[in-house]
Amino acid sequence: MLTSGGKSIMLRFLESAINIAKKSGDFIVSHLEDEKIIELKGISNLVTSIDKESEKLIIKCLEENFPDHSILSEERGFLQKKSDYTWIIDPLDGTTNYAHRFPFFGVSIALKYNEEIILGVIYDPIRKELFFALKNEGAYLNDKKVAVSKTKNIADALISTGMPYELTLDEKNFLPFINLSSRTHGIRRAGSAALEIAYVACGRLDGFWARKLKPWDIAAGIILVKEAGGKVTDFNGNDIQLDDDTFLASNGLIHDNMLEIIKLERIVIKK
Ligand code: IPD
Ligand code: CA
Ligand code: CA
Repeated sequence: MLTSGGKSIMLRFLESAINIAKKSGDFIVSHLEDEKIIELKGISNLVTSIDKESEKLIIKCLEENFPDHSILSEERGFLQKKSDYTWIIDPLDGTTNYAHRFPFFGVSIALKYNEEIILGVIYDPIRKELFFALKNEGAYLNDKKVAVSKTKNIADALISTGMPYELTLDEKNFLPFINLSSRTHGIRRAGSAALEIAYVACGRLDGFWARKLKPWDIAAGIILVKEAGGKVTDFNGNDIQLDDDTFLASNGLIHDNMLEIIKLERIVIKK
């Protein structure tokens, strides 16, 4: 897969991604209590000065370490170089939580080699939890290998979701929310897609679905869930692509059942 250096070069990428994620995560937390400058990118789509500072810090470190690599980042867009490698970063996932000092947000960094995600790191700086995965090497939470849950029956599942910022009255996400609520232990909407996907990888959640996510929300989470033994597809059950409009990550065992329920076109409460 990789042209030179094999595993050692991958470890170097991983080590750098971990250091950078921790550095930016700790920076974000150090400003949690500050009065923040908040801008609106859409009606309820926030960005703070700290998102941008964290992004600057990450890009600077990546450029110092890997000057030839491309970078795709939420606020800055695509910084293209002639390279097979692209870093995909969300410098602060869970901005709305962060702006309100609701302690659930993180930093997400992934590396793509051509079209394949080869590494993912998601860092929760509040709990000091570092989720990471390398292609074919498994998924980890801090120093422990993790796996998706073994929940077979959707009735025993805890599921989470995200809502797109641009909600409309016919928002399709409300239907699955209601239909899954009556068929599971419950639904959460925690406000950081990256961390919620990482929670699927380590078995704290059995599934996570959402619409209109962006590559930086999901890139690191995809490899984490796959390396942890789970499944990630669009709502048609096709292997996920970074630009897909629909997203479902699960432990694999409840995947098809979740897809069926997500696709119900009316409220069908299970009694
Ligand atoms: C958002 C969060 C949220 C999800 C949104 C994302 P941001 O990312 O992950 O949970 O529902 O769709 O855009 O803006 O906080 O980086
Ligand atoms: Ca995000
Ligand atoms: Ca973000």
